[in-house]
Amino acid sequence: MIEDRDFPIPEPDDNAVAAMEKAWRRADLQRYLVRWQTSPIPEVPTPFWDFSWRALDIGCGMGRYILREGERHPERAYLGVDKGNLRGGTMLDRVGAADRPNVFGLHTNIIPLLPKLPPNSLDQVSIFYPNPWWPTKHRQKRWSYHPILPVLPKLLRPGGRLLLTSNEAFYLGEFRYAVLHHPEITEMATSYAGPIRETEGRTHFEAKFITEGTPCGEVVFVRG
Ligand SMILES: C[S@@+](CC[C@H](N)C(=O)[O-])C[C@H]1O[C@@H](n2cnc3c(N)ncnc32)[C@H](O)[C@@H]1O
Repeated sequence: MIEDRDFPIPEPDDNAVAAMEKAWRRADLQRYLVRWQTSPIPEVPTPFWDFSWRALDIGCGMGRYILREGERHPERAYLGVDKGNLRGGTMLDRVGAADRPNVFGLHTNIIPLLPKLPPNSLDQVSIFYPNPWWPTKHRQKRWSYHPILPVLPKLLRPGGRLLLTSNEAFYLGEFRYAVLHHPEITEMATSYAGPIRETEGRTHFEAKFITEGTPCGEVVFVRG
């Protein structure tokens, strides 16, 4: 049986807490979004909204998760978004080849798209293995510090899940702290924090980590 002690998720230290809180105080989402004001932002395919249960996979890589889950749950809609040239393009090809009516892909940056999505419209938002942006000078790019962070929970319906996985325990600890303490985030409760409970790998990165024997963890929150 997998126990939490197999992948302990630490609380962030005082320095990280102070840095996160400073980033949240200074965050100005509208100013941040100005960089995209002249860029075309693709629309979410209309049929995605026809499904009553909808999931968004952010940074979906080559689309393994949305394709597999879409096949298992044909009554649910899965939208994957990835901005990477190689992964985003491959994902689009794979989604096109699978030709499943409930699986959708967008090859774009998710950040300017998120504020355009209707609040209370998603049942799950997942982020599998984001770049941890290890150097301190880059930590503003982590989800926990980012001005877009408080938008994510607002997209969920009551009962909806926000899920993040990482092989970096510190990253999960910071994310948990941010979701539970960000002044603009309310009504989110932790439903799981510990090692991943997977043997196969929901995504390409997860499959690689499992094959290598790299321990990974997961935090899941539910919107009240
Ligand atoms: C480490 S990979 C993980 C891919 C996949 N989730 C997996 O587990 O196999 C992180 C992915 O996030 C994507 N990504 C990072 N920031 C993004 C953004 N702002 N919008 C869309 N995709 C993003 C990258 O292009 C990359 O494919």
